[in-house]
Amino acid sequence: MSIAPIGVFDSGLGGITVLKELVQRLPQEDFLYIADSGHCPYGGKSADEITARARAVTEALLARGAKLIVVACNTATIAAIETLRAEYPVSFVGMEPAVKPAAARTYSGVIGVLATGAALAGEKLHKLIREHAGGVRVITQPCPGLVERVELGDLNGPQTRALVEEYTAPLLAAGADVLVLGCTHYPFLRPLVAEVVGPRIAILDTGEAVARRTEALLQAEGLLVVSPLPGKVQWFSTGDADAMAIIASRLWGKTVQVEALSD
Ligand code: DGL
Repeated sequence: MSIAPIGVFDSGLGGITVLKELVQRLPQEDFLYIADSGHCPYGGKSADEITARARAVTEALLARGAKLIVVACNTATIAAIETLRAEYPVSFVGMEPAVKPAAARTYSGVIGVLATGAALAGEKLHKLIREHAGGVRVITQPCPGLVERVELGDLNGPQTRALVEEYTAPLLAAGADVLVLGCTHYPFLRPLVAEVVGPRIAILDTGEAVARRTEALLQAEGLLVVSPLPGKVQWFSTGDADAMAIIASRLWGKTVQVEALSD
């Protein structure tokens, strides 16, 4: 069982930011990455719709032997991870926006959280804010359209820049000195966000923490691969696999083959 792959999924390509951290931390493991591109974005969907998709993708990963599943999507984590944990026999690692480290880091006492509409609609994020950001003003900012720009591979064109300017302006105006990237697509936009907001603003995401948590869980369950050989990544898409291969290769940094998955 320890030689089984780790399953990773997202609505699309955003989870690649998490997969990079996972592969860096666990280079000997095999990974299955499913982009639910046929149903992307999740950000405008209801919790029930997102949960239905999370179930379908989880079942596809389990059918391919996943020993643990990383929900590399904040929106799906917020909408569906409790259901997934209750219904399936493997461990799930989810995303948790970096609200706690942001609250510890702010000097101005104001932090901004950039996320999808569906992630901000879920109770889970607000609970996190209540429990870990007491005494700090947290401003949440939905960012419609940003996921779609990343899906197109447009990480710094004029349309993407205009959206980043629009969504960060109110946070800066309110005095935020820490921004939390609460969607796994957004770390691809980190250089652009940094350019737009300037060097005084800290920008946080949680990909590395998720990789650490995954390693700890596999270790505790006796499921870490013991091998000197590097593992491999297999890529799947419920959308247009050829189109995904082009953009995913750019975002991943080397050529990937993507298998089409019927949903
Ligand atoms: N990467 C997903 C997240 O972390 C994006 C959700 C979407 O498809 O809108 O929230």
